[in-house]
Amino acid sequence: MATSKCAIIVGASSGIGAALARKLARKGWKLALVARREKELEAVAGPINRGGADRALVFAHDVTKFSEAAPLFQEIVHRLGGFDMIVYCAGVMPPVAPDEYNIEKDKLVFDVNVLGAMAWLNEAAARCERQRSGTIVGIGSVAGVRGRKGQPVYCASKAALHTYLEGLRNRLGHKGVTVVTIKPGPVHTPMTEGLKLPFMITADQAADGIIAAVRRRAVCAYVPIIWWPIMTIIKMIPSWLFRGKDI
Ligand SMILES: NC(=O)c1ccc[n+]([C@@H]2O[C@H](COP(=O)([O-])OP(=O)(O)OC[C@H]3O[C@@H](n4cnc5c(N)ncnc54)[C@H](OP(=O)(O)O)[C@@H]3O)[C@@H](O)[C@H]2O)c1
Repeated sequence: MATSKCAIIVGASSGIGAALARKLARKGWKLALVARREKELEAVAGPINRGGADRALVFAHDVTKFSEAAPLFQEIVHRLGGFDMIVYCAGVMPPVAPDEYNIEKDKLVFDVNVLGAMAWLNEAAARCERQRSGTIVGIGSVAGVRGRKGQPVYCASKAALHTYLEGLRNRLGHKGVTVVTIKPGPVHTPMTEGLKLPFMITADQAADGIIAAVRRRAVCAYVPIIWWPIMTIIKMIPSWLFRGKDI
């Protein structure tokens, strides 16, 4: 029987996922930290586990190995002693030149950002449906709201994730399950290293925004909130006017 709440963070080795792990641990959550780089995961888990208690368990895993997600999910739930929440943070945004069209790069973006999410969140959804409780969180992006010329495939991957999460919410919302879509604006993490972007926040601030959204069971949360009015306007711009711009 679980004595504290249990969460799985997929993509916990850096950036937003690592910041979220530290904050949830401070709130007493028991965590499973998942990503490829075991050393980085251990660096996140080390301070959490200081003092003896094994509150953060580390699992090295590549989300593009889709068939490994279901058995690993089951193993994690067993080791944690329960399941209350999953946050899918894993994501990639490789640099793309303005004249580049590269299907291998595109496939990787969809494998990590979309299919990896489905492999993990389908399993979580089935568990939540059975236990009639639980929270599923997906980290989308403001980039998924419109198709932008700089990153057409990354934008498409986040749009696909948003739509998938909406479908899960419609399927599970009346069964005691909360599905939260987070749409962050630019966050200072390794993913955005060297980029100058507007309204940039820290990974800690993004983690606070995610925790606040989960607490109020938001359907969809822009993080920070300034992106809500901005994207509401950007969404209304007709395609013919949006063409050629990069906003
Ligand atoms: N930074 C931003 O401005 C921003 C804005 C909006 C949305 N987001 C989204 O927020 C999420 C977190 O990004 P971040 O900014 O925190 O970037 P980050 O620091 O680069 O973190 C990405 C995480 O994804 C994991 N990951 C990547 N490929 C993986 C794979 N094949 N298997 C397992 N894990 C994999 C990485 O772990 P390993 O490399 O150890 O595997 C890492 O933990 C992403 O979904 C991103 O699209 C970011």
